[in-house]
Amino acid sequence: MKFSEEKLNKAKEIMTRYPEGKHKSALIPILHIAQEENDGWLDVPVMDYVAELLNIKPIEVYEVATFYTMFNMKPVGKYVFEVCRTGPCMLNGSDDIIEYIKQKLNIKEGETTPDGMFTLKPAECLGACGYAPMMQLGKHFREHLTKEKVDAIIEECRNGAKVY
Ligand code: FES
Repeated sequence: MKFSEEKLNKAKEIMTRYPEGKHKSALIPILHIAQEENDGWLDVPVMDYVAELLNIKPIEVYEVATFYTMFNMKPVGKYVFEVCRTGPCMLNGSDDIIEYIKQKLNIKEGETTPDGMFTLKPAECLGACGYAPMMQLGKHFREHLTKEKVDAIIEECRNGAKVY
């Protein structure tokens, strides 16, 4: 695995924000790049590549990548619906939204549709409680979700929406 030239330059630019010997601090943003470059998930060769790039031990990458839920440790669909289900979102109907997505896409939580388009991944608080219920889709938040909004989002994705 290797980053494209554009992404490698981006990674190097991020590393320059930290002093020599402290490049591990760039790990999380670089893991985001790695995930984008690897169809939305991180496997061992990708994490090893990141370790090499940052000149740290592979275990240091595995520890971080497996701790944070925003990193996917198995293949995911082109569009990952990370629906928050923590308190404020739950009180505002996130359970119904999750149930609706499951029925609509005919998948369970954590599953991907057979066509590889959608993954449903319930998430814990994403820090947008005032916009509950909400989900993260790529780099964007989708807020005040309703069944109608979910329908529109699915349609948007089927039409090739860019979410990164
Ligand atoms: Fe859903 Fe905080 S509880 S964003």
